[in-house]
Amino acid sequence: MTTAPTAAKGLEGVIAGETEICNVEQTSLIYRGYEIADLAANASFEEVAYLLLVGEKPTSSELAAFKAELVAERALPAQVCEFLKGSGDLVNNHNAVPMDILRTGVSILSHLDGDSQDNAPEANLRKSKRLLAQIPTIIGHMQNSIDGRDFVAPDASLSHSANLLKMMTGENPTPEAEKVMDVSLVLYAEHDYNASTFTSRIIASTLGDMHGAVTGAIAALKGKLHGGANEAAMDMLSDIRRDIGPENDTAKITEWMHNAFAEKRKLMGFGHRVYKNGDHRAPILHALGRKAAEARGDEFVKLFELGETVQKIMEDEKNIYPNVDFPCGMTYFTMGIPVPQYTPIFVASRITGWCAHIMEQHANNRLIRPRVAYVGPALRNWKS
Ligand code: SDX
Repeated sequence: MTTAPTAAKGLEGVIAGETEICNVEQTSLIYRGYEIADLAANASFEEVAYLLLVGEKPTSSELAAFKAELVAERALPAQVCEFLKGSGDLVNNHNAVPMDILRTGVSILSHLDGDSQDNAPEANLRKSKRLLAQIPTIIGHMQNSIDGRDFVAPDASLSHSANLLKMMTGENPTPEAEKVMDVSLVLYAEHDYNASTFTSRIIASTLGDMHGAVTGAIAALKGKLHGGANEAAMDMLSDIRRDIGPENDTAKITEWMHNAFAEKRKLMGFGHRVYKNGDHRAPILHALGRKAAEARGDEFVKLFELGETVQKIMEDEKNIYPNVDFPCGMTYFTMGIPVPQYTPIFVASRITGWCAHIMEQHANNRLIRPRVAYVGPALRNWKS
């Protein structure tokens, strides 16, 4: 008699591959050997992007060349601009959300990229840089279409983060806003075998191409249990504010949360498959976001105070900690970014991690094809 195989639900605890790119542990988060707090304090997003894509920290001349390549690739082909002109209508009058527009935008880019069918390392690196440069332009053009404004051209004088913010609003961000955005992109850039990265590697393992793998990864990131949680976390805080009124009354917040616990609702921005005692990225972003809130005024400080009370109740009563998406929601809100763009901005960063993983998969490929435990009906005859 054979024993039926058992499955790890959600593949929890399964080691599904090897990587040189990132290590996620409760004790540390490392990108290619560098600790996340070190990177957040000392590296720009462009430097981290280079580190992830190329494998080593750039020299100053390598960094300058990399930045120049990104700037040169920011403009979008006319066909993608045409699609984005209509994206405001799709979002405002139909059923699209910005993550869907971004997914389709990346998919259209593949039709127009001269390297799209080539999985060679050099072609993959060229495509990684193009996608990294083009995704903020898709987000910016889309936001202007949603708001009924003309597109804002990419600004070659600005960093990746400042350009992203300018293209969404038409205004140069303050140095403080640029810094907060830059650190958030550093924190979001990579996280080993999370669901969207695993999706991209599965697609790459069939010898599927980079744009296809990224398109699939965007679809995976959209879900609320994954990257969509930064939007959902902010929506949840807005719901709490609506229900408790303008003051941060701890008794009312506690009651709101006890209702959520009783109804077994998941609190967005809390919990993590790997980090059971806290996400390394969350306190870094929380501190930056709170400082931005203090600079912006009472309304934003009150939002952070609400979040801190929610966090304390979760920790005290459930022993569940915030993940990076919880402070991200409050931070991007403080910066005036429209909530439905929070997860697309996550993409603008995670594209680096995805592309690094797609290249690693193509460089040492074997088809990813696990088994599954069959739990359906026993063998039966069609005619009887
Ligand atoms: C990201 O994987 C990555 O690395 C992802 C990411 C990245 O950088 O790529 O870090 C980014 O996706 C962060 C996660 C964003 N998602 C959310 O914030 C959504 C809310 N969180 C959860 O639904 C949950 O914590 C997950 C999905 C993040 C993790 O799910 P697991 O590992 O399957 O854990 P679980 O759902 O089985 O929870 C274990 C227990 C359960 O209680 P019991 O049934 O055992 O009593 O903890 C409870 C859960 O009910 N729990 C929560 C909770 N998270 C876990 N209860 C209430 N609210 C929560 N948020």
